[in-house]
Amino acid sequence: MKFFIDTADVAEIRELAETGLLDGVTTNPSLVAKSGRNFLSLVAEICEIVPGPVSAEVAATDYETMLAEGRHIAKIAPNVAVKVPLTPAGLKVCHRLSTDGTMVNVTLCFSAAQALLAAKAGATFVSPFVGRLDDIGHDGLSLIRDIVEIYANYPGIATEVLVASIRNPGHIVESAKMGAHVATMPPSVLRQLYAHPLTDKGLAQFVADWAKTGQSILDK
Ligand code: E4P
Repeated sequence: MKFFIDTADVAEIRELAETGLLDGVTTNPSLVAKSGRNFLSLVAEICEIVPGPVSAEVAATDYETMLAEGRHIAKIAPNVAVKVPLTPAGLKVCHRLSTDGTMVNVTLCFSAAQALLAAKAGATFVSPFVGRLDDIGHDGLSLIRDIVEIYANYPGIATEVLVASIRNPGHIVESAKMGAHVATMPPSVLRQLYAHPLTDKGLAQFVADWAKTGQSILDK
């Protein structure tokens, strides 16, 4: 499973990129607004830090403007994935851009039917939002299961399932068990993946016992 980070915070991206665990980045207009940064220079900077796909979302909702924005965004760097909403106009833009060879991430997917449309439109990624479905009392992970199962029935579908709106490590583990291709997560959730109390307890014991040996691995 590929790990993307869902943030527009460059300091966080730099720090997490150094772990060697990051395969890409997703941003959205809300995250860009939170960063307070100029959108185009922000995306260019992220694309330099992380060589994998960096999703940058169009702002317009009509076809012509979205297409123009998408083409503009695509020029920022070869690793940009233009993010478009799952609307009729968004999917039309997706089809045009993907035909031109641009990576496209179709976002705001909340049903398997929508995911089928995204695949037919040639999306590189489809982003089903697990957490936002859970928030309204639905089972977000069952949507991931449905999309993965449906896509697997058609070997011609190249669209990757990018699990989005992740709230906790369980969302990632369950999605990985289902075979989802990518998980995009907030930095806090990525850090939670490391944590287990028995790791901390075991390490404290090893450190204490090692001290009793009076040895140093590096000193001769
Ligand atoms: C994905 O690309 C979105 O940016 C993101 O996962 C949305 O998450 P949220 O529901 O926590 O805002």
